[in-house]
Amino acid sequence: MILCTRHKDLARIMAPGGRRCAFVPTMGALHEGHASLIRKAVAVARDRNLDDGCVVSIFVNPTQFNEQADFTRYPKTIEADLSLCEAAGASVVYAPGVEDVYPTDEGVEVPPLPAVATRPSLEDALRPGHFAGVCQVVKRLFDLVRPLAAVFGEKDWQQLQVIRAMTRDLRYPIDIIAGETIREQGGLAMSSRNVFLSPEDRQRALAISQALCESWSAKTPADAERLMRSELEKRDLAVEYAVVRHAESLEPAASGPHRALIAARMGSVRLIDNSEWRPA
Ligand code: PAJ
Repeated sequence: MILCTRHKDLARIMAPGGRRCAFVPTMGALHEGHASLIRKAVAVARDRNLDDGCVVSIFVNPTQFNEQADFTRYPKTIEADLSLCEAAGASVVYAPGVEDVYPTDEGVEVPPLPAVATRPSLEDALRPGHFAGVCQVVKRLFDLVRPLAAVFGEKDWQQLQVIRAMTRDLRYPIDIIAGETIREQGGLAMSSRNVFLSPEDRQRALAISQALCESWSAKTPADAERLMRSELEKRDLAVEYAVVRHAESLEPAASGPHRALIAARMGSVRLIDNSEWRPA
């Protein structure tokens, strides 16, 4: 496995012309959820005979944090991250500093935000500017890495839809592949931010995946939303949203495919999760 910290070196070791790798962008503090995406990208690269294999980026992108404190305290575990990437079969890790991604002498474009990024009462309402930062960095990374395929987790369902739409709008020839959410025992979705949960909060946080399961007994989206909210409030979680939307457009919709989506806070820690939803 090769470690690069500058995109110039990345360009030197990768196939000229690009499109010979499968890519997994991350912000580090890697866990088994990230490992499963890397293994998926390795398999895609193998199946499609991509000589450059799987490329992983590790970069805590400052432009997507709407709270300075969240950015400053974001966990950094680079040594363990590199071991995890190697064990999962990555060929290249690109772990740049801020100046390599955002050179001061070169403006880095923020691509037009797809409509799915700004649906009312979802991420944009709670984290204004977040998806502009995500689109900016992912487009930049796509331009530097030039993958043929890129794997994103279903854990961040709205982000996955935003990236799909952005890639389509930019007409980039990149196949966006979804990886399923990996959970801890008990159902809590793995997240780099789970390290901030106290043992009691970790217990209470189980209400999120339980609320998603509860929602499967509802016959309508409105009933599902009521059930999820009451399950979360029963355990004293501060609900930011608990909704059922169309799975791709994320608009309120009478007919499916549907997705149930939750964001809730436990003190300073914000957790999100989602699942498929069908009327019972
Ligand atoms: P990060 O939170 O590090 O996540 C990197 C990728 O791992 C994302 O595609 C995310 O959906 C996926 N992921 C996180 N937890 C997961 C889990 N429990 N199971 C499966 N996949 C999981 O998402 C970002 O970074 C950034 O926004 C990024 C796309 C890298 C742009 O900066």
